[in-house]
Amino acid sequence: MKALQCREVGPPEALILADVPPPEPAAGQVVVAVKACGIGYPDGLIIQDKYQFKPERPFAPGGEVAGTVVRLGPDVRGWAVGDEVMAFTYWGGLAEEMAIDAGRLVAKPAVMRFAEATACVMTYGTALYALEDRAALQAGETLLVLGAAGGVGSAAIQIGKALGARVIAAASTPEKAAFCRGLGADACIDYTKAEWREHLKALTGGRGVDVIFDPVGGAYAEPALRSIAWQGRYLVVGFAAGEIPRIALNLILLKGCSVVGVFWGAFFDRGGEARDRHVARLAALYEAGAIRPAVSAVYPLRDAARAIRAVMDRQATGKIVVEVGA
Ligand SMILES: NC(=O)c1ccc[n+]([C@@H]2O[C@H](COP(=O)([O-])OP(=O)(O)OC[C@H]3O[C@@H](n4cnc5c(N)ncnc54)[C@H](OP(=O)(O)O)[C@@H]3O)[C@@H](O)[C@H]2O)c1
Repeated sequence: MKALQCREVGPPEALILADVPPPEPAAGQVVVAVKACGIGYPDGLIIQDKYQFKPERPFAPGGEVAGTVVRLGPDVRGWAVGDEVMAFTYWGGLAEEMAIDAGRLVAKPAVMRFAEATACVMTYGTALYALEDRAALQAGETLLVLGAAGGVGSAAIQIGKALGARVIAAASTPEKAAFCRGLGADACIDYTKAEWREHLKALTGGRGVDVIFDPVGGAYAEPALRSIAWQGRYLVVGFAAGEIPRIALNLILLKGCSVVGVFWGAFFDRGGEARDRHVARLAALYEAGAIRPAVSAVYPLRDAARAIRAVMDRQATGKIVVEVGA
């Protein structure tokens, strides 16, 4: 079978499409024939050893997978050959088959396309967990989404609207702003412009925003936090700008606000009823038409390195997906 292998620390261009033996499932695992794999910012980090997990080489990047169960290992209950599933695995998805711990699988709703399913578990899961569970976003509140045209950002626009918030999208180009409006954002700002905080002030009547969803960090974080409303909630989601900001605590005191960490992967790995409720809620939002993963480009497996490059170079809008199996 084919797999896109990372054999050495390096850029996407160093990845190699190789023929490798198909995986055998260990106890508690199933083998999934991967139909599609979502590409996210972490894929560019993991191949360069800049992510929080450093898998042993060689490995295939790609953590958001959707496909069909083709083999079961010993001691697997609740899954059968032919089941359509989705999973977040951190890496391994840019391969025609992969072995996955059965506990990580989520049933794919029949109406959901495989390409959409790759975005649903982690990307929309992160936005839902952040906005509903961590920030308790209320209908009528104002939500500012940084990096709003990206993967988790575009998901946060849709989840924010589904929860009844007024959504302000921050993005770096007019094309990305138009994309965010198309997803339902009520207003857009260009946060690369010097006057972006004044723009935000005008949009909120001087009050500031109730909730900030920040997957970007860097130089955007502090000005955003300075624009938060009294008793607002600032969600720390990621650092796509590369730099991890340091914020003076007096700002948190003066705003009377909360800075809230979001680590969806750790939440998901803890399992239990909270995870089951979360997965059911995502499926219900999808089935009600409230969320529609914004798949903006689909690449074949042989071009998956180009897909990772597009995300790394800030070129992508919404979700980029690699089609793996036929
Ligand atoms: N905490 C969690 O549980 C969790 C879960 C999923 C992802 N994440 C993290 O969230 C972040 C975003 O992930 P993603 O998959 O949504 O990424 P993505 O699709 O690439 O989106 C990131 C956005 O950040 C903006 N950006 C600003 N400066 C950038 C730079 N120097 N390089 C690249 N993008 C830049 C870009 O929008 P503009 O061009 O409009 O600025 C881009 O659309 C990552 O750090 C990821 O690790 C965290």
